[in-house]
Amino acid sequence: MPQQRDFDVLIIGSGAAGLSLALHLGAHLRVCVIAKDEITEGATLYAQGGVSAVMDAGDSVESHVEDTLRAGAGLCHRDVVEAIVRHGREQIDWLIGHGVPFTTMDTADGGQAIHLTREGGHSRRRVVHAADATGRAIETTLLEQVRAHGGVTLLEHHIAIDLITTGKLGGTPDRCVGAYVLDKRAGQILTLRAPWCVLATGGVGKVYLYTSNPDVATGDGIAMAWRAGCAVANMEFVQFHPTCLYHPQAKTFLLTEALRGEGGYLCLPNGERFMHRFDERLELAPRDIVARAIDYEMKRLGSDFVYLDISHKPADFIREHFPTVHQKCLEYGIDITRQPIPVVPAAHYLCGGVVTDVAGRTSLPGLYAIGEVACTGLHGANRMASNSLLECLVTASAAATAILEERSQAPALPAIPAWDESQVTDADEEVVVSHNWDELRRFMWDYVGIVRTTKRLERARRRVHLLRGEISEFYANFRVTSDLIELRNLVQVAELIIRSALKRKESRGLHYTLDYPERDDTNYARDTILRAGDFS
Ligand code: FAD
Ligand code: SIN
Repeated sequence: MPQQRDFDVLIIGSGAAGLSLALHLGAHLRVCVIAKDEITEGATLYAQGGVSAVMDAGDSVESHVEDTLRAGAGLCHRDVVEAIVRHGREQIDWLIGHGVPFTTMDTADGGQAIHLTREGGHSRRRVVHAADATGRAIETTLLEQVRAHGGVTLLEHHIAIDLITTGKLGGTPDRCVGAYVLDKRAGQILTLRAPWCVLATGGVGKVYLYTSNPDVATGDGIAMAWRAGCAVANMEFVQFHPTCLYHPQAKTFLLTEALRGEGGYLCLPNGERFMHRFDERLELAPRDIVARAIDYEMKRLGSDFVYLDISHKPADFIREHFPTVHQKCLEYGIDITRQPIPVVPAAHYLCGGVVTDVAGRTSLPGLYAIGEVACTGLHGANRMASNSLLECLVTASAAATAILEERSQAPALPAIPAWDESQVTDADEEVVVSHNWDELRRFMWDYVGIVRTTKRLERARRRVHLLRGEISEFYANFRVTSDLIELRNLVQVAELIIRSALKRKESRGLHYTLDYPERDDTNYARDTILRAGDFS
């Protein structure tokens, strides 16, 4: 393969955000989508609960907006919430039009309607789903459609290393013009040139020891955008999902909030329910409250887990609505129709990210960011369940419109030097990468987790500073590998999370610190924005 390839649009990431954008643009422009693992691998594939949208005649956009604002604890941007929520139904219709098999139900007049489930923070049933494997249905359908429509180059096992900007090439004005990409199988570094690049790289869960996220969630897009000079916002707001399966042999597996939406409840090892002591909405309080309640009870009792119990519901109902969860738990010897499930919280979703508008425009011309990598202002200090897939779909559609509008002004692309490997050798000690990776994830879990203190955050800041220095040196001297690229990004993202958490001297939404346990609207009712040059 030639070392340089040119496209109109380079999309980095193939989840709901990246694939839906490709589907919108494929007929009009030369589009390339790269994914660092298999094309389908990413958080989207594992999404269980569904997509929030106003579908029911008794529901309203205003109600969805108000619920989102309430969950976001004062930091959502109302205009953005309204702009995204308003398009919910249209996006569901678009997915149905492309063949996504959402769960339906019989209506009283003998017809069929979309079945809506319920999740935390939503005041009504509003979550469109495909049983408990909604993400798989969306991801596989979008991929089939992208392949069927043609016009899109799909490169899997290709990992972006860094964005290429005219500024770094010595030109003005600054613009993103492509990316250096490692073809993991061939071991070759390519230059992919494009006047529009779109980050759709997903989240950062792997920065923590325990996470619901797949291995690809290493914050690459945020780190690349940061190095390219983009602002990032609200990195302190990491959402911990309250209920992931606790099992010594299980890689973390999510137990959808819809289990609680359909009547499942939390209890202590002695069977006692406890959510009434924390919030009147009980198990359907927003996630920050439920995760903190579980964390509190686990620490109080010295227990490794609490239980989630849905076994009081009819077995047929459970098997029909939650076939994936039922099957997965059976593999670990737990029959959820008869037994409670041991659960723990785990890092799940990043509300912050690269600062963008609703169409995904970043502050760097030519660079867009959509999906979990972006911070549009929708989620504020805490994301409401199932609002993420909605955001992926709406922002991808808006980004497509924006790019098509700009296409007549495509700049001439500059000559880009090939990746220079003349000064590096193969790594002598891979153990440096694996050791630093483990250390980082453990101290992030211990010091920057669900409940924080200034002392722990300071400790984490000192550790991350040392690690960043060590990894930068390693990166400068040795040939890049996929693990090294990801570790370099993870450590950058960890530093952004810690710095942002230290700046917020209050507790709000997902950021809870024992040193400042109250919300402080006088001083902190604003986003935490970090810009290049804020620290070295
Ligand atoms: P992803 O789907 O994560 O895709 C990221 C893509 O980027 C992948 O293709 C990856 O290979 C690629 N990539 C990353 N870095 C690079 C790089 N350097 N080079 C090349 N490619 C790269 N949200 C909801 O709204 N409803 C739900 O029910 C729900 N359930 C969830 C359940 C689980 C278990 C998890 C983990 C999340 C869930 N979420 C849910 C959140 C939601 O799934 C994600 O926020 C959303 O899918 C993110 O989509 P995305 O397109 O931004 O990224
Ligand atoms: C879940 O199904 O509980 C996850 C939903 C979400 O993260 O939005």
